[in-house]
Amino acid sequence: MPTRSNPVYCGVDTIDLAQATKLIQSIAGGPKPAVGGIKLGLEFFLAHGAPGVRYAFPGPVRATGVGFFLDLKLHDIPNTVAGGIRAVVELAPTFITIHASGGKEMLKAAVAEAGGQAAKHNVPRPKLLGVTVLTSLDRSDLEATGVDADPSDQVLRLAGLARESGLDGVICSPLEIAALRKQCGPDFVLMVPGIRPVGSAANDQKRAMTPRQAVDLGATNLVVGRPIYQAADPRAAAEAIAREAGVNDL
Ligand code: C5P
Repeated sequence: MPTRSNPVYCGVDTIDLAQATKLIQSIAGGPKPAVGGIKLGLEFFLAHGAPGVRYAFPGPVRATGVGFFLDLKLHDIPNTVAGGIRAVVELAPTFITIHASGGKEMLKAAVAEAGGQAAKHNVPRPKLLGVTVLTSLDRSDLEATGVDADPSDQVLRLAGLARESGLDGVICSPLEIAALRKQCGPDFVLMVPGIRPVGSAANDQKRAMTPRQAVDLGATNLVVGRPIYQAADPRAAAEAIAREAGVNDL
């Protein structure tokens, strides 16, 4: 099997700054990180903001080449979303999330702002990923919001809108990978949570897939939280998951 770059992003789902710092150092520290990237989301960012990111995920760890997924799920009027993007590009995130249902103008404003701010701060342009339909919503939930569609159709519709608006990819469940890969082409980023290594606990993930299955279906990146951060040895757990996903030069 040919080796590939490490697709695994570890979801650091905690507001405990010391715990996040220790975890990130152990799985992403040098000389070679055991993960492809770190995901910090609403919990961490609302509690600690940009200074917390710089503290828990400092330059020397970033210098290993590990990615940074800032999972903010932005959704507001175009001007405000652009302001949110402006506030975080300096942190050089690899990926930022934004709700595709916010509409084309909002998505385009975010894309334009990401490009402009990246040039200003001399960092790579963050890739913007759309959130389509949250996996917590079923058909009746959509109906209650006035959307008369099956979640799977709505996912494809919103992914199409995201792509037309210049986004680089979407977050999707393992069950959506195949259809999205077909619709959106080989270069569209599919960032996939709901991943469980062979033989591990599903926790609350109802339709989990293994790293191998998700990559074979066309996932670009995998998001894995508890199987790494709850393991007795998070680094060893991350390495094992990366190997399952086809990385063999750890
Ligand atoms: O611990 P676990 O591997 O289930 O964590 C997965 C990560 O992906 C968490 O940060 C969770 O919020 C996120 N996520 C998810 N399912 C979705 C969307 C995001 O598990 N549908």
